[in-house]
Amino acid sequence: MAHRLSVVRAVPALRRAVAHLRRKNDRVALVPTMGALHDGHLALVRQARRRAQRVVVSIFVNPAQFAPHEDLATYPRSFDADLAVLADIGADLVWAPPVAAMYPEDFATRIVPGGPATVGLEDRFRPHFFAGVATVVAKLLIQCAPDFAMFGEKDFQQLKVVTRMAKDLDLPVKIVGVPTVREKDGLALSSRNAYLTADERAAAPTIYRVLKECAGEIARGALPARVLDEGSAAIERAGFILDYLEARHAETLQPIARISDGPIRLLVAARIGKTRLIDNIGV
Ligand code: PAJ
Repeated sequence: MAHRLSVVRAVPALRRAVAHLRRKNDRVALVPTMGALHDGHLALVRQARRRAQRVVVSIFVNPAQFAPHEDLATYPRSFDADLAVLADIGADLVWAPPVAAMYPEDFATRIVPGGPATVGLEDRFRPHFFAGVATVVAKLLIQCAPDFAMFGEKDFQQLKVVTRMAKDLDLPVKIVGVPTVREKDGLALSSRNAYLTADERAAAPTIYRVLKECAGEIARGALPARVLDEGSAAIERAGFILDYLEARHAETLQPIARISDGPIRLLVAARIGKTRLIDNIGV
């Protein structure tokens, strides 16, 4: 039978609801999302349930992380369907604040992350992005005060930025990374996959196929620079405009030339039609 799921839309109600969830000393995990939930989000909720007795999911399309030319207005929204799947999977509470509750008119504070937020990957193409993410995630963590907060490896740089921020600000929360959930053909699940036309959808699995091939060759001893040149060409041949395909140190995200210099993560961002896809893989 479906679980009882409450929805709160104001900070005082959220604080009361979380205190109620904690009344038997239960631990709380938060899963921050922008809604339009898919199986990738649900994997985070399942991991949250393994870590904590109580699970809070936030649904908030955060205007601060979209640039004016980006897709804030058209970002997919499916609130009623999201509530139904969350009730089904056993989440306890949905935090769905209106924009005015998160950013009242006189809102004047921003968290500007450095370190992994300034390594020249997503930050190079979306300069506004990580300050928007860090500010909203800090607010969500302070509002909900969870023991755990779950983030997908799908957005690998975001996971590193949030982990660094929580540490730097001494937020009493453990940030947990969750492996990427993929379609059968390898495409990483993303709310933005809904934008792909049939032809673009057919080309999209190239991204993961190239990541896997590159990771295999680097693991067998090939030099990352040469392997990634070939991989970039393959992605472009499939019809993408490549923003980056890079080998980085898996912890610091700094450039890395060879596998003996540390664990390598390959990260990619590429555009096809109106859609921008990102993905990454460990070597
Ligand atoms: P959103 O894109 O809705 O993603 C919410 C969480 O789900 C993120 O931690 C993301 O990495 C994870 N996720 C998305 N697709 C996934 C997949 N295929 N496999 C595993 N996890 C996946 O990321 C955001 O929202 C926002 O930036 C947010 C952190 C909520 C701040 O506004």
